[in-house]
Amino acid sequence: MTVAASQPSDVQRCWDHHDWSSAFRNVGVELSDVPLEPVRGTIPAELKGTLFRNGPGRLERGGQWVHHPFDGDGMICAFRFEGGQARLTNRFVRTDGWLAEEQIGRFVYRGVFGTQKPGGPLANAFDLRLKNIANTHVVQLGDQLLALWEAAEPHALDPVTLETMGLSRLKGLLKPGEAFSAHPRFDPGHHGEPRMVTFGVKAGPTSTIRLMEFANEDHLNGARAGDLVADSRHSFKGFAFLHDFAITPSWAVFLQNAVAFNPLPFVLGQKGAAQCLASKPGEAGQFWLVPRQSGHQAGARPLLVPAPEGFVFHHLNAFEDSATGEVVVDSIYYEDFPSIGPEVDYRAIDFDSIPEGQLRRCRIDPRGGTVRSEWLEQRCCEFAMVNPAKQGLDARFAWMAVAQRERGNDPLQAIEKLDLQTGERLVWSAAPRGFVTEPVMVPRLTDYSPEDSVAEDSGWVLVPVWNGARCATDLVILNAADMKEQAVLELPLAIPYGLHGSWAEAA
Ligand code: CO
Repeated sequence: MTVAASQPSDVQRCWDHHDWSSAFRNVGVELSDVPLEPVRGTIPAELKGTLFRNGPGRLERGGQWVHHPFDGDGMICAFRFEGGQARLTNRFVRTDGWLAEEQIGRFVYRGVFGTQKPGGPLANAFDLRLKNIANTHVVQLGDQLLALWEAAEPHALDPVTLETMGLSRLKGLLKPGEAFSAHPRFDPGHHGEPRMVTFGVKAGPTSTIRLMEFANEDHLNGARAGDLVADSRHSFKGFAFLHDFAITPSWAVFLQNAVAFNPLPFVLGQKGAAQCLASKPGEAGQFWLVPRQSGHQAGARPLLVPAPEGFVFHHLNAFEDSATGEVVVDSIYYEDFPSIGPEVDYRAIDFDSIPEGQLRRCRIDPRGGTVRSEWLEQRCCEFAMVNPAKQGLDARFAWMAVAQRERGNDPLQAIEKLDLQTGERLVWSAAPRGFVTEPVMVPRLTDYSPEDSVAEDSGWVLVPVWNGARCATDLVILNAADMKEQAVLELPLAIPYGLHGSWAEAA
């Protein structure tokens, strides 16, 4: 494993398909507070809190594999750090679907990404039930830990034991089955106090976005952590497919991709709902800028601005450029909607046949309704983040998962630190036999006032890595500033490639 200022030299692929696909398996064990020892390096004593991670943990039942790993049941890991020690707990989320299928030993529900019940189309036609698999993200809000899945309400978990408490309607805020995004953004205090900003989408010929803001700690004005402090609804023409969004102090920024939804194959039992999405060739998407309540644009109407062609799942960050008046949004763009056909086994996927993600900066002029854009990173990348204190602000640094090769589509094998001002890159790589998932940047805390705050890149990057040699998962701790390896923890656990995670400071 190496750190290098990246050179445009590595044009050869250096990974083995079997190493990569060996991560697709069922998580076979649930651990409780198991101590972890580093096999290399030391755990920083200042690291005090919990890394929560979510992702699909059950990919096969009764000999049948999910059609896409996104259909796998949510499995939560909690890595607790204190005093230079680490401990691991992991639990499946006890969703209704997981409990029913666990009991019967086979799939009972269809998956959104194409997993069908046994018995062919006849057995699946007109079964439009959604299985809330709680597998996309996990965040702490007040005293609740929430396992998120964007098409329905969250599951509440005990933050210590990870025991499932049940579906949470957030004190009656959500209707039964109401969509609640798996991509909340944590405003570090744009309006005085920290908030969790999130949304739900009701999609149709006209789509409605519900924008919600929650106090993320007890506020001086009396709001308690977890309380709703802003709530608004905005309708737009067209079928909305919105996985993620970005925030600035004044705006919630959505990118409506140019996709169409034809539900017929889903209704007839031939395809999963997400497989009925298709890009509209030649059409571009649209930015939807929704004013945040108590921001500078509060009360204004949402703005619609044409976006560059391409498809976006995830954004890095957004901010308002006070010098130009532009709203700047950094997003990971794909040339087209990357989908896997009904006949394709995802474990045998040909990476050359699907487009790679690339980081692009769009500068939106809200008055002129125009956008100009530039590439920030053309190396295949995903799962990018800034220092959480810079969320919604002009951040200097980004950390993201990248491919080992400089160009082309490959599995993610390295973590890159990108200086957004100078373009300087530092890369830590797990190649050839390691495969990374989403990195989480944990800033170093300081006892000083914010004016004396430590450097933006001071802290650590925590990343689970599939170790193809060991056929198990390692947790790697990097120094966020120089990207040198700080510690490697070999987990007594084999975890398929995960989705999203978050860091919760110890109280
Ligand atoms: Co996501």
